[in-house]
Amino acid sequence: MTDRLTIRRPDDWHVHLRDGAMLEAVAGHTARQFARAIIMPNLTPPVTSAAAASAYRERIVAALPPGTAFTPLMTCYLTDDTDPDEIAAGHEAGVFTACKLYPAHATTNSAHGVTDIRRMTTVLDRLQRIGMPLLIHGEVTDRAIDIFDREAVFVDRVLTPLTRDHPALKIVLEHITTAEAAAFVAEADHPIAATITPQHLLINRNAIFDGGLRPHAYCLPVAKRETHRLAVRRAAVSGSPRFFLGTDSAPHVIGAKESGCGCAGIFNAPFALEAYARVFDEEGALDRLEGFASEHGARFYGLPLNEGTVTLVREAVVVPDRVGDVVPFLAGETLGWRMLG
Ligand code: NCD
Ligand code: ZN
Repeated sequence: MTDRLTIRRPDDWHVHLRDGAMLEAVAGHTARQFARAIIMPNLTPPVTSAAAASAYRERIVAALPPGTAFTPLMTCYLTDDTDPDEIAAGHEAGVFTACKLYPAHATTNSAHGVTDIRRMTTVLDRLQRIGMPLLIHGEVTDRAIDIFDREAVFVDRVLTPLTRDHPALKIVLEHITTAEAAAFVAEADHPIAATITPQHLLINRNAIFDGGLRPHAYCLPVAKRETHRLAVRRAAVSGSPRFFLGTDSAPHVIGAKESGCGCAGIFNAPFALEAYARVFDEEGALDRLEGFASEHGARFYGLPLNEGTVTLVREAVVVPDRVGDVVPFLAGETLGWRMLG
């Protein structure tokens, strides 16, 4: 049995670091485990210009102890009014790594998102031309569609025509939760990949209703039934370079979660690698963790692999009930792995 695992230093290809006091509180957790991270732009107001992204990147770096080896990779929040020239210039200048598409009102702070992807043709054409990845929150927002079906319907109604109309557009389908999304990404004749979170590998929708309403198990896309969790697990451990690590760590203060209308988002940054290690261990696939965590994402984005390593040891680690003002994912549970350092 493997009791000690050393892998190339990993990256987090989808994280919410927030701003202000929350940024100060959470940035160190991500920087401790990951060399780089794709920073989600859904602040209020959202990050829609290169100037705003540069300033945000500086605030992130300033929130870390001096000399911390961590690179924030910034994204541009697409709106109906996004100017393709602004994105291209930001990309060219090395500020924007990618663009994030939130269908309007799909999730936390997405009110300014895109109301109709068909209006985005000029932007998408430009992204395709300059090789800049489009990161997608893949859920339809039609309230007539059952919330558990919104990802599968998105794949069918939006993603399928999108890939057909933009055959060379690099796409990351973020935080996939369904068998349909996993199959589409695995099989598409298209430059497409997907991020996978710890929570969608470890919980199904029962966790949200386990003896009562569990707001800390609620995120978007919402966890699905067990068959989907198993399909997403198979994709993660498959070794396919199209699947890689993206925590979607999304902290909200306790009061915002434990509320009459609790926010969507799970804060998993403090023990993210440990949570993934548990999954790969349970699947007998620890030898594939490095590809998923440290190689596939960088290759998809066309970035160099990190130097250096991290080591995980088999050891009981109890996840605390609180990390600052936030309840972490798996609070109170014991994980079987610990990252050294
Ligand atoms: C995210 C947040 O809180 O910003 N919430 C979530 O449930 N994942 C937004 C998002 O990624 O959908
Ligand atoms: Zn997210």
